[in-house]
Amino acid sequence: MNKFYVTTPIYYVNDVPHIGHAYTTLQADAVARAARLLLGDANVWFLTGTDEHGSKVAKAAEQAGIEVKEFVDKYADAFKQTWKKLNISHNDFIRTTEARHEAGVKQILSQLKTIKNNQSVVYEGVYEGLYCEGCEQFYTADELTDGLCPIHKKPAILLKEKNWFFRLSSYLDEIEKDVRDDIIKIIPEKRKNEVLGLIKQLRQLPNGGDFSISRETVKWGIDLPAEYGSGQKAYVWVDALTNYITALGYGSADDGLFKKFWQDKTSSVVHYLGQDILKFHAVYWPGLLLALGLFNFDQQRPLELRIHGYFTINGEKMSKSLGNVISPDELINRYGLEAARWLLISTFPFGSESDFSFTKFDEKYNAELANLLGNHISRVSNLVEKLCGGKISGTYDKNKATHHKDSNDQWEICLNILAGLHEQSEKLHLEQPWKSITAEPDKAIKAINDAALYIRDVLADQLKPLVPDTAREIKNTFSSENVKKAEALFPRLAK
Ligand code: MSP
Repeated sequence: MNKFYVTTPIYYVNDVPHIGHAYTTLQADAVARAARLLLGDANVWFLTGTDEHGSKVAKAAEQAGIEVKEFVDKYADAFKQTWKKLNISHNDFIRTTEARHEAGVKQILSQLKTIKNNQSVVYEGVYEGLYCEGCEQFYTADELTDGLCPIHKKPAILLKEKNWFFRLSSYLDEIEKDVRDDIIKIIPEKRKNEVLGLIKQLRQLPNGGDFSISRETVKWGIDLPAEYGSGQKAYVWVDALTNYITALGYGSADDGLFKKFWQDKTSSVVHYLGQDILKFHAVYWPGLLLALGLFNFDQQRPLELRIHGYFTINGEKMSKSLGNVISPDELINRYGLEAARWLLISTFPFGSESDFSFTKFDEKYNAELANLLGNHISRVSNLVEKLCGGKISGTYDKNKATHHKDSNDQWEICLNILAGLHEQSEKLHLEQPWKSITAEPDKAIKAINDAALYIRDVLADQLKPLVPDTAREIKNTFSSENVKKAEALFPRLAK
């Protein structure tokens, strides 16, 4: 790989961001930052944005008594502000109400209308089904629990509409093969098996898995192009999924980024998402791409999907009605920006269900940031100042660092950083250079110098993608010609 394109889902603007959204975005941010260090800024593109059409958003605006455009502007801005506060390094933020996106969606729909794969890939039909507005998707009766949506636990509504359909059924074999062969690469493995199961289920549906790409009764959306006949809007998921290429300029005159990051097999494409929207990304999206001829280019560069679990709060679903929604602001106010980033990224193994509690975060903050990292930095900088005249010499041979592991899982990376730090801190405790400085000054100075080099040449670099400001501060402290005792990086939380 020499180029890297990473995305987050685009978030619905029916409410302000919470820690679930922040978690996905931080994952993408950390890998984008790591990739920039490896490949250079010009070879990395990180996209996030907001999903602004559809009945769910329109209804939320209506309930708030605000005109829809004003409503979506307000919440899109809330996402932008939150990403700024969390120091997210996206290169672009796409809103599906932007002209560039709307033009791209129309172009894609026009293309689909002309494509034949034996038969036309889109066709008109009537759909009757159970629809969950929260998910913006149809469910079969089997998928519901007592008529309730499995995610929102609300009744699905019976809808009957004349829609345009996408013939997904004719791509399922290919998608299945691509999933098996890791050409559609799904991480973690258990989600891959889930997708293979989903494909089997889709095949058994009366329409073989074909899905509607338009909505007759929805008013807030992108108009289908004229060749479809009048009156319908694009289905919000078709509108949303295509953001990953419209944001790169697909279908426009200015498609340099699309060529560079999508249409080039030396570029890795990684979509981060939660388990709730797996079907759309692992089946519908590849189906659309295959139809558009945008997946089998240059034989084959994988489409990688990294799927994380859902946050619960003290064991319960996070929801407005339960009043337990946690905002990224709450975390930042309690722990500070850098600690909030660290805690969100390092607490849960990627892909697992994640139960959040302030108690757990408080303990982690004190143990890892205040005690281990904070104390080690201040102890070593103090020793350099007091016993080495503020001077450090040499460089640390990174190959010697035992806890330096590359992984797709940020949690694992954090574990390794902590293990390395722990080892360093223990070593210093055993060597006690502050005691041996009089009897064996050379040995004591070497021990301090080695500890300082590890911090400057290994630890600061490891921390860069995760806690960039802290990493810079540490690097600066230990790169100085005259090292002084560092200020406490992470003050202990008051009980
Ligand atoms: N708009 C669609 C995505 C379209 S992508 C082409 C959507 N938006 S969403 O705002 O509902 O949520 C998107 C993502 O936010 C989830 O996939 C997940 O990554 C994250 N999370 C939302 N709630 C979450 C939790 N409770 N826990 C963890 N992440 C969650 O779906």
